Amino acid sequence: MGKFTSLLVALTYVAVVLSVSITDIQGISWQSPFVGQTVNNLTGIVSAKGTSGFYLLGNKTSDERASNGLFVFTTSTAILKQVNVGNLISLSGKVQEFRSSTAPNDLVGTELGSPSNIVVLSQNNTVTPVILGQDRSPPMQLFSALDVGLDGFLSVPNNVSLIDSVNATLQPDLYGMDFWSSLEGQLVTIPGPIGTAFPNSFGEIWVHGTWGTTGKNSRGGLTMTFGPDGIPDGNPETVIVGAPLDGTKNPATAVGTGFSDITGVVLFQFGFYYVLPLTAPTVISVPNPVIPPSTIVPDFSDACAITFGDYNVENLSPTVAHLPTVAMHIANFLNTPDIVFLQEIQDNDGATDDGVVDANVTLTTLVNSIASFSNVTYAFTSINPVNDQDGGEPGGNIRTAYLYRPERLKLFGGSPAGGSLDPVSATATPSMKPHLNFNPGRIDPTNAVWDASRKPLVAHWETPSGEDFFTINLHLVSKDGGSSTQGNARPPVNLPVDVRTGQVSAVATFVESLLALNPNASVLVAGDCNEFVETRTVFAPFAPILQDIDAVAGIADVERYTYVFDQNSEQLDHAFISSAIVARGGVEVEHVHVNNWSPTLAVRASDHDPTVGKIRIC
Ligand SMILES: *[C@@H]1O[C@H](CO)[C@@H](O)[C@H](O)[C@H]1NC(C)=O
Ligand SMILES: *[C@@H]1O[C@H](CO)[C@@H](O)[C@H](O)[C@H]1NC(C)=O
Ligand SMILES: *[C@@H]1O[C@H](CO)[C@@H](O)[C@H](O)[C@H]1NC(C)=O
Ligand SMILES: *[C@@H]1O[C@H](CO)[C@@H](O)[C@H](O)[C@H]1NC(C)=O
Ligand SMILES: *[C@@H]1O[C@H](CO)[C@@H](O)[C@H](O)[C@H]1NC(C)=O
Ligand SMILES: *[C@@H]1O[C@H](CO)[C@@H](O)[C@H](O)[C@H]1NC(C)=O
Ligand SMILES: *[C@@H]1O[C@H](CO)[C@@H](O)[C@H](O)[C@H]1NC(C)=O
Ligand SMILES: *[C@@H]1O[C@H](CO)[C@@H](O)[C@H](O)[C@H]1NC(C)=O
Repeated sequence: MGKFTSLLVALTYVAVVLSVSITDIQGISWQSPFVGQTVNNLTGIVSAKGTSGFYLLGNKTSDERASNGLFVFTTSTAILKQVNVGNLISLSGKVQEFRSSTAPNDLVGTELGSPSNIVVLSQNNTVTPVILGQDRSPPMQLFSALDVGLDGFLSVPNNVSLIDSVNATLQPDLYGMDFWSSLEGQLVTIPGPIGTAFPNSFGEIWVHGTWGTTGKNSRGGLTMTFGPDGIPDGNPETVIVGAPLDGTKNPATAVGTGFSDITGVVLFQFGFYYVLPLTAPTVISVPNPVIPPSTIVPDFSDACAITFGDYNVENLSPTVAHLPTVAMHIANFLNTPDIVFLQEIQDNDGATDDGVVDANVTLTTLVNSIASFSNVTYAFTSINPVNDQDGGEPGGNIRTAYLYRPERLKLFGGSPAGGSLDPVSATATPSMKPHLNFNPGRIDPTNAVWDASRKPLVAHWETPSGEDFFTINLHLVSKDGGSSTQGNARPPVNLPVDVRTGQVSAVATFVESLLALNPNASVLVAGDCNEFVETRTVFAPFAPILQDIDAVAGIADVERYTYVFDQNSEQLDHAFISSAIVARGGVEVEHVHVNNWSPTLAVRASDHDPTVGKIRIC
């Protein structure tokens, strides 16, 4: 017995003496080398306290990959009373990897559970945060080394690997997620935070600080762009600021709001690396409340120039409160373009699910409201969906529709409007103006790619001087159920990206049929594509036949956005033009930020910003 006991004693003695540090526990990869193990005599200075635990700072090593911060999970009020910020303590506990939700998207975070043997060794020690932008700065383009593919984090296929399982060594100089992971549990200061979005429904706010950024737009947000190497840039230099640890509430934010410096701790939860502030910041600056209208105006002196608007008007029914605002936007900010592409026009009784599919009351109400702001009375056209078959809010029967100024445009020729299930097709004519069997008509409406999604609305237009052009109004299938930019799945899950690609392909096939009949046909495809052009695989079918109007018009990359989501200003709404339009020149486009420059989320009329453009059709 004697020998055996002394061996055990020796082992115990070794374990006690060679106690681990916080940097040992954090390690230099995603999961701790000590997971599941009980550690004793761990020392650290208490840097912050919340209701579900406290944060410790240990000594730093020269290896930036190993965080010297650690979250100690406990809801024991006795323990929480025992430790105070500035205390140097020693304690025991069990190293664990915690996932904040069972959603497979969430990463695990390293923490110490079941804290015990807490001894306060000294008090009133200084806790020094890492000053971001000074001591450490986040990478500005890529999220993860696992985002393989030419489209970076937007590459297809998605979810090829999981960060947790690969458990690679951190590369915090190159990859945003690795950077934030190397600060897990740390106390950090964000100097000069600027809001890049509206608060989410939990009052959490996305910011960047005074450090290097890419994609910075004129409003102060960060736009998703391509990096210098042609790989998409999703702005990993932003961070979400969660609920303050002291129970105060974050102020509301908007794109471009300036805040007082934020000091808080880094923690992964709910799909992202968060900074949980010690206390709520205050607003110190707000962007200019005056939102300018588009400078593009209809030009009645030029028979060849057509102006168009494009606007996802978010579940517009006759009685919704935002209808007059949308009408005012079309009149005063879009300058009553010759034609307006609308998405999310609901049926006459909105979300009531009673078989009503007509939208003439919705569109007439909108037209009358626009007239009250402008003296312009639009005509309209759309095709009813089959009841409840085109997705969107249940019962709402959203569809795309056109408003057009009858003194400027009429539907070409004498073809009847198509029904919900009638496929539009084009045939040759001696005049080189391809003839549509239905005008307007829907593209391949029974193709499975359009199940529970809006069918594109094709129309052929004629001007008073006899010029013609084609339009296709898109509202591609919504992003639904994807994973977050900082989630476990790499590249992040983008649903249903295969369906969207099939939809673009179906539209491209129709455009090709027009161009086969007249390679010089003027074709304008516009609408809510629910996808970024940086996801190049989705738009690949357009590449040989259509060009992105933003690129043709030379819009600065950082100003190409119509939507704000999570950290990014991004473009979901696009217009594409055929080569003949490109060749004629004079192409203009502007995204009018009537909604995403709003001072608050509540006053937005829609989640999308509208766009105005000008093309020449002769
Ligand atoms: C993660 O990597 C670290 C360091 O290489 C290793 O000690 C640990 O066991 C790994 N954990 C898992 C779950 O793979
Ligand atoms: C180390 O931890 C053990 C277990 O909590 C404790 O008995 C011992 O006193 C500690 N040693 C030091 C030097 O703090
Ligand atoms: C950091 O290292 C010094 C010197 O070894 C030691 O006195 C101090 O207690 C350590 N601090 C922490 C938090 O472990
Ligand atoms: C990603 O794939 C894994 C299997 O490797 C699966 O468990 C997980 O649910 C997928 N993630 C998402 C967000 O679909
Ligand atoms: C020192 O720390 C103790 C306990 O943590 C606290 O009560 C006291 O106010 C602190 N003193 C100073 C000068 O901060
Ligand atoms: C809508 O269409 C129905 C059926 O054609 C018609 O009775 C009604 O007058 C129309 N309403 C408006 C406002 O155009
Ligand atoms: C509409 O036209 C009337 C009569 O010409 C004019 O008095 C009014 O100012 C116009 N309203 C707008 C909004 O243009
Ligand atoms: C298309 O337009 C170009 C340039 O105006 C012209 O040279 C060409 O003949 C046209 N092609 C057809 C098929 O009309």
